Amino acid sequence: MTAVPEIDLNTGATIPQLGYGTYQVAPDETKAAVLSAFEVGYRHIDTAQGYQNEQGVGEALRESGLGRDDVFVTSKLANGAHRRDDVLRTADESLARLGIEAMDLFLIHWPLPMIDVDFVDTWKTMIEIRDAGKARAIGVSNFQVPHLRRLLDETGVVPAVNQIEVHPYLTNETVRAFGAEHGIRTEAWSPTAQGAVLGDPVLQEIADRVGRTTAQVTLRWHIQRGDIVFPKSVTRSRIEENFRLFDFELTEEEVAAIAALNRDERTGPDPDTFDFVF
Ligand SMILES: NC(=O)c1ccc[n+]([C@@H]2O[C@H](COP(=O)([O-])OP(=O)(O)OC[C@H]3O[C@@H](n4cnc5c(N)ncnc54)[C@H](OP(=O)(O)O)[C@@H]3O)[C@@H](O)[C@H]2O)c1
Repeated sequence: MTAVPEIDLNTGATIPQLGYGTYQVAPDETKAAVLSAFEVGYRHIDTAQGYQNEQGVGEALRESGLGRDDVFVTSKLANGAHRRDDVLRTADESLARLGIEAMDLFLIHWPLPMIDVDFVDTWKTMIEIRDAGKARAIGVSNFQVPHLRRLLDETGVVPAVNQIEVHPYLTNETVRAFGAEHGIRTEAWSPTAQGAVLGDPVLQEIADRVGRTTAQVTLRWHIQRGDIVFPKSVTRSRIEENFRLFDFELTEEEVAAIAALNRDERTGPDPDTFDFVF
């Protein structure tokens, strides 16, 4: 089985650099999809309260026969649960659905700077959850540099990761650089822009040269940049394809050529204004 590199977190723990994403995996398909991912060799699952599929992830964990420490499990706080009582209650609900005593990583899903709960207060409750042993590491998602700065300045507790949209059409360099400077790992969500980059001629040309698919080239590009990725697919052949990233390499020039495709084009919402509650 291919060895997936482990990345150090600022907590002393490690996280597999490649995982399996479950956004838009339907609740009734999740158990089978995650079991498929386990069979292929994935040992890192990214879910969220908002995906409504933690139950299926939990069922797959139990059915897989894998030990608790063999799989890295991330979940995320729902946007409607930023108040202290709701953070505490929903974290317990996530643990019950997942059937585990502690998440490996628990993230604030969106900063929601427009709502009437300050994300710094939400972060303080996340620290309580970590201190109670219910999350081995805590982090954030979709935080921009000013949001991260406030967490650091006002609590001194550095998130283990910031999970942000990153792909060849949105390289998000400023947020990545701030993370690198402060020991916050970048996780790249929608690593293929939900498939939108896969027909790009530059990626196709590189793919032809290295004898791989454009999906593999794109995911390998993330890996060589040091980001953590968890592509989503419910298609078995793609789940396998996306896992075969560690027996080929891109040159520095190829990595640079892919980064040069940046157009600052989001597929998801702008974190500075997004205020949808789920
Ligand atoms: N924190 C956040 O706010 C946030 C936001 C979005 C996503 N995420 C996380 O990041 C994960 C990945 O992002 P994503 O699901 O949005 O996008 P993605 O992984 O970039 O793309 C998923 C799409 O690409 C297709 N696909 C997958 N592998 C393929 C391949 N080898 N060839 C061709 N098409 C392929 C999938 O189709 P099929 O499934 O039909 O095969 C699906 O339609 C999510 O699952 C979630 O865990 C987090």
